[in-house]
Amino acid sequence: MTTELTVIVLAAGGGTRMKSKTMKVLHPIAGRTMIGHVLAAARATGPERIVAVVGHQREQVEAHILSREPNAVLAVQEEQLGTGHAVRMAVEAAERMSGTVLVAYGDTPLLTGASLRWFVAEHEASQGAVSILSGIVDDPFGYGRVLRNDEGDVEAIVEEKDASEAQREVREINSGILAFDAEFLLGALPRIGNDNAKGEYYLTDAIAIARQDGLTVGAYPIDDVMQTEGVNDRAQLAKMGAELNRRIVEGWMQSGVTVMDPATTWIDADVVLAQDVTILPGVQLLGATKIGEDAVIGPDSTLKDCEIGAGARVVRTHGELAVIGAEANVGPFSFLRPGTELGAGGKIGGFVETKNATIGDGAKVPHLSYVGDAEIGEGTNIGAGTIFANYDGVQKHRTKIGKHAKTASNNTFVAPVEVGDGAGTGAGTVVRRDVPPGALAVSSGPQRNIEGWAQSKRAGTAQAEAAAAAADERDVSHERTELGNPG
Ligand code: UD1
Ligand code: CA
Repeated sequence: MTTELTVIVLAAGGGTRMKSKTMKVLHPIAGRTMIGHVLAAARATGPERIVAVVGHQREQVEAHILSREPNAVLAVQEEQLGTGHAVRMAVEAAERMSGTVLVAYGDTPLLTGASLRWFVAEHEASQGAVSILSGIVDDPFGYGRVLRNDEGDVEAIVEEKDASEAQREVREINSGILAFDAEFLLGALPRIGNDNAKGEYYLTDAIAIARQDGLTVGAYPIDDVMQTEGVNDRAQLAKMGAELNRRIVEGWMQSGVTVMDPATTWIDADVVLAQDVTILPGVQLLGATKIGEDAVIGPDSTLKDCEIGAGARVVRTHGELAVIGAEANVGPFSFLRPGTELGAGGKIGGFVETKNATIGDGAKVPHLSYVGDAEIGEGTNIGAGTIFANYDGVQKHRTKIGKHAKTASNNTFVAPVEVGDGAGTGAGTVVRRDVPPGALAVSSGPQRNIEGWAQSKRAGTAQAEAAAAAADERDVSHERTELGNPG
């Protein structure tokens, strides 16, 4: 039989050292908020309930927590009177608790579900009243120290400010993550006082209380102490962000992704990569981006919430909410805006911007174009420098181009307009009316040359001189031709 588990996440503190209008635990790391990482780790323990203790800027924090964990119980701690008081608020908010209660903090973004599962298993196997997830560190400054007796049994946790010289030498620290037998916790909380250096209700006093009652207490050092490290300022935010990214990139390399330059590759926690993906230097894969097998991304590309098909090639591209088909080609210098869908084997080429555009299998928009609010059929080729004029100044309209159409360079499609299957256009055409299937649309009138224009209207300029010289040259060669001169 498995023991019922409750996870309490403490997130009421202000985080003033972030110097931010955004609450500390809502700052993002690897595409999730800090508390988002902790909630994911909590979820991975398969708990009966998750209770989050909120206080500072609680409207913001509560809404975010519920967006990630709709069933979370929210406990409000109006004043931050200490971790013991915070857990008391959690116990009061959750109507009942039995089995095991795990306490964690909302600002430890590297924490994994696997570590929490291991710790809970150790705690439950010990049948103790309290277990401490501890760590052995070189610089224990600021942490609560784990005090053991001569037999090595845990006696208490003493906080930095309350510790003696000798106690401060102890290098085994309290990570802050504690596991309790629920029944013991409920009885111990009211017995915790605030007669200490900070005048706070220390949750850590529960350890000495358990010992007074003759109950078992254990401390389990975690090898990977960084997992329990909190973020208090922006320098730590960057340090932990880089470390989490290093771990994520390393993990993908272990599962068969080639990363040419891990130092310039950023991959968010929720990104999914298939085997044999290759990532070239300077790539950011963000949000819920998914990359298919054998695709090559980069160099220098940012893809957020994009889906890239197997074998596709994406070079120097900025994309958001775009879907790229298998074996398709994108870039260099392409801007894929939301709603871009490129079919298998298609192409979005250099200096092309797309938005709300469905481009069919094998269809190509190779050069210097804007494709907005459009549907382009399979096998169609759009000429260089084409603009899909989707906006009439008031409303957006759609353009539909059929299959296997060939439109020429420098066209403007004035939406709403439709071009039929197999149709074509001439260079420079402004397409304002529908083009039937198979028709060729041309809109510019016949070309008219006004002879000698430069010489008469730009007299005295280099342009006029060049024109005059070319005209003389032409006259001479005409005379030669007329005389039948072969040279
Ligand atoms: C706490 C531990 C210490 C441990 C350290 C690890 C206690 C008394 N001390 O110290 O042993 O080594 O964490 O980082 O538990 N919080 C609330 N409400 C409160 C107080 C705190 O929600 O009233 C939250 C904070 O937002 C924070 C966490 O609890 O996420 C820890 O609080 P903090 O004040 O930073 O505790 P420390 O002094 O670091
Ligand atoms: Ca802290």
